[in-house]
Amino acid sequence: MTTRLREQAEHSFSGGESALIGMLGDRLVSVLRSHNTPSTLYYVCADGETYVVKVEFGRAPTLRDEIRWYRDVARRGLPRSLFITGHAGPGLSFLLLKRFGDGSTVDDLALAGESAGQLGRHAASALDDDIELFHRTERHVGQDHVHQLTERRLAVRRSQAREFPYLRTLMDADVVTMNGAGLPGVSRCLNRLFGDPRLVSYLTPDRVGMTFGDLHCGNILVHEGSTEVVDPRGGHLLPITYDYGKLVQSVEGGYGAIMAGRYVLRRTGKAAYEFAVEAVPGYAGLAALLAARCDERSYLQSLFQAALHFVAMLPHHASAQEETTALFLCGVSLFDKLLALLA
Ligand SMILES: Nc1ncnc2c1ncn2[C@@H]1O[C@H](COP(=O)(O)OP(=O)(O)OP(=O)(O)O)[C@@H](O)[C@H]1O
Ligand SMILES: [Mg+2]
Repeated sequence: MTTRLREQAEHSFSGGESALIGMLGDRLVSVLRSHNTPSTLYYVCADGETYVVKVEFGRAPTLRDEIRWYRDVARRGLPRSLFITGHAGPGLSFLLLKRFGDGSTVDDLALAGESAGQLGRHAASALDDDIELFHRTERHVGQDHVHQLTERRLAVRRSQAREFPYLRTLMDADVVTMNGAGLPGVSRCLNRLFGDPRLVSYLTPDRVGMTFGDLHCGNILVHEGSTEVVDPRGGHLLPITYDYGKLVQSVEGGYGAIMAGRYVLRRTGKAAYEFAVEAVPGYAGLAALLAARCDERSYLQSLFQAALHFVAMLPHHASAQEETTALFLCGVSLFDKLLALLA
């Protein structure tokens, strides 16, 4: 199967998804479409084992980065967990993974009412693996370098977001009213934070390393008490607070609940909303456990990253306007919380 996939990847794969499904034939067990990325996952059975093939057609920049991440990890002699092989070609790119359980994630368990104690063990195990990866590859690069990485990513995503008129209006709002309370808008918060060298210095780490890069609760798989992280992000080496920020965004920021549609949103004015994210007890417990693992500065750095993650993801979700507005409002709330804690 991998030989045929590799051959197809090297040619321009004209048949699209239906040709791929035809090629997988009766090995195909099920298809899992991604929420907001162009890749699709196929559960396939071969020689009595089930595998997962993640496929993206065409240029496939995200999946290429993911394949590169697994290769980088291998080159450094570090564990690659579920990875078997991957190939990036002009026609398609694919990643072949061992299947881990039924694909249940920490998000699934939290939203199904799992206790914070159980969830905490899974999240801690994934975080420990991430921290170990980071420590084995970390290097001092200085705060200026890390700050430039942050600024560059943000500038690209903000300008992509501005291509959507409703997002431009939201991003430019000086005040965002949520449930009757006026909170400072995103541009104002960013100007305040980035315009104060002392705050920039306080919020910017000086070390980077390899990390999973997208350690939110929907990427932590759980099976019979053990965990595996999927969907790693290739590219730049990152500060570890980037991934702490992904977890903070997931549990404290409301990302997991928003992705599951567990929120109520009603527009009441130009940049005014009634907005409530469902309180999920497992997330609240996880947020407390996570905060307890950090000193105050690392926690605030992670909160800062979490707020930035909300802004950075807006263009990728933009076609779903209600969901993206909810993500924007979660970002505004996190910036407000961060500025209050920094005051
Ligand atoms: N090796 C695996 N074994 C079992 N299930 C898996 C495996 N890899 C991925 N999955 C399932 O597929 C889902 C999506 O995988 P992944 O995160 O790699 O794709 P994605 O393109 O980022 O999708 P999304 O945008 O939904 O996160 C996972 O949340 C998990 O439920
Ligand atoms: Mg994912």
